[in-house]
Amino acid sequence: MSSPLSSASPGGRPPYRPATVAVTSGRPPHVPDNPLNAPLTMASTYVAGGDVEYGRYGNPTWSALEGGRCLAFATGLAAVATILDLVGNGATVVAPRHAYNGTVMQMADLEARGRLTAVLVDVTDTDAVVKACEDAALVWLESPTNPALEVADIATIASAAHDAGAYVVVDNTFATPLLQQPLSSGADLVLHSATKFIAGHSDVLLGAVVAGDDELYDVLKKRRDMLGAVPGTFESWLALRGLRTLHVRLERAQSNAQELVRRLGEHPAVAEVRYPGFGAVISVVMAQGALAADLLTHKTTLWVHATSLGGVESTFERRRRWRSEPATIPDGLVRLSVGIEDVDDLWSDLAAALDDVTGEPA
Ligand SMILES: Cc1ncc(COP(=O)(O)O)c(C=O)c1O
Repeated sequence: MSSPLSSASPGGRPPYRPATVAVTSGRPPHVPDNPLNAPLTMASTYVAGGDVEYGRYGNPTWSALEGGRCLAFATGLAAVATILDLVGNGATVVAPRHAYNGTVMQMADLEARGRLTAVLVDVTDTDAVVKACEDAALVWLESPTNPALEVADIATIASAAHDAGAYVVVDNTFATPLLQQPLSSGADLVLHSATKFIAGHSDVLLGAVVAGDDELYDVLKKRRDMLGAVPGTFESWLALRGLRTLHVRLERAQSNAQELVRRLGEHPAVAEVRYPGFGAVISVVMAQGALAADLLTHKTTLWVHATSLGGVESTFERRRRWRSEPATIPDGLVRLSVGIEDVDDLWSDLAAALDDVTGEPA
């Protein structure tokens, strides 16, 4: 797996497949009386004279989670900020106009302070993105985008960006390392809000970045440690525990999502269903706009009205309830994060709320 979280390969044998990597990575060696799981090492400092010395530079629990060229961060946004901090003063950053609003807000803030120029693009218009790459130092992609669920042609854009001498970052939060491996399409850095599917239980904030080469890894680690954007130890331990079941959670959530996409498309309250064909996030545009969307999110008993995504439980929200959400996102768009419950229970709850909103039985 091009995992943000390790890629185990047993001595002398072919590398493990993704599900096995998820279950085995970061475990202590099979030695009598060793624990099966990596211990939680709570340490702000270490006995002097070794490689780590201080708690901001390393921790055995982080190492168990990270593996390979992966670095964990305090949050996904701390990872975004650390990467953007590497961009030179006055440089141009190309980014999706519908990227996660926290990422877009960070770029707007840096632009307002004269640190960089942000050029926002429609990532589905590959020709326009390729053209925009000409002046860029960094090309930021998010695919699928949050919450528009647009998909970028990562390989074509990465190749154009490299021709222009730019670095390429892909926020892979929605796809996870199981459904998309941007490093093999030419990305230099792959970012995850591990808060979402990787940790998977709505109880942790965490970020992760995988670097394509050792040099970038070293630069990023130095900057993370310098900024203090490091992960919490307990959060890392919980994320490692969540990672063990990523493949089964995602398989179930994705198959629930695919069934719900089919059923939602037949409901008269729904004007448009957006789904990239994979993953467990769906966006629907309500036929009767924002009011109907707000009503819907208050009428269910199983679906939870909450922001965030990627947990075992199904959640949803109208995205434009956030003032920071771009105005080009439809007012009546509801983003659904599909969990691993029984799909018929999910549908009866949602269908009853949809019927209630429109006054029409499905
Ligand atoms: C695509 C994407 N990237 C980054 C982030 C930020 O991650 P975090 O909430 O862990 O800071 C989010 C959060 O929703 C997200 O959806």
